[in-house]
Amino acid sequence: MPMSRDYWEHRYQTKDMSWEKGAPSPGLVDFLAAHPELPRSSVAVPGCGTGHDVRAFAAAGFVAHGFDLAPSAIALAGEKTQAAGLAAKFTLADFLHDAPPQLFDWVFEHTLFCAIQPAEREEYVRAVLRWLKPGGQYLSVNYFITDDKDGPPWPTTRAEQLARFSPHFELVADWLPRSYPNRTGKEWLFWWRRKAV
Ligand SMILES: C[S@@+](CC[C@H](N)C(=O)[O-])C[C@H]1O[C@@H](n2cnc3c(N)ncnc32)[C@H](O)[C@@H]1O
Repeated sequence: MPMSRDYWEHRYQTKDMSWEKGAPSPGLVDFLAAHPELPRSSVAVPGCGTGHDVRAFAAAGFVAHGFDLAPSAIALAGEKTQAAGLAAKFTLADFLHDAPPQLFDWVFEHTLFCAIQPAEREEYVRAVLRWLKPGGQYLSVNYFITDDKDGPPWPTTRAEQLARFSPHFELVADWLPRSYPNRTGKEWLFWWRRKAV
């Protein structure tokens, strides 16, 4: 059964937010610092939570837009972004089923893939394709937990990521990123470019 909007909203309302680290993905921070040559284009961050990754993209000069299913996440993200003096948009949306408000140059993934039901993963791949421009890029920080059978989060592996995304994307690079202390060695960063159709 899909995790509903009520499920996620309840987790925000009860402050049951174990994923909330108060800072962007360290792997994303390093990626942005390492690539000043990349055009500062549009990026969608689905399942953005309170918006740390969206603000990291905005601070680096991207036109950043966060999306989340939970109204409280969108409200918190907007407040934090205003307080930080950054410009970014946040919109309530179901990434898996809604049409994007525009097509994006980038989609950035961080703990949404592991948060949806494993049975929804093909829909997730279709959503990335639906939200990206032709030739767009997909950057993902995937959480390689192996022992959690009672998600979210649910496990994934490098082999699964390659099997799901290789038919539609060329792998530009993948590597072990810097992580939050309690995720060290458990994350993997993939940089994909959408194949021409
Ligand atoms: C584990 S949290 C991660 C939040 C954020 N990416 C982070 O790392 O701090 C998963 C987030 O995805 C949101 N979410 C779950 N399903 C979604 C969907 N179908 N569309 C958009 N957001 C979704 C939840 O509301 C929640 O904010």
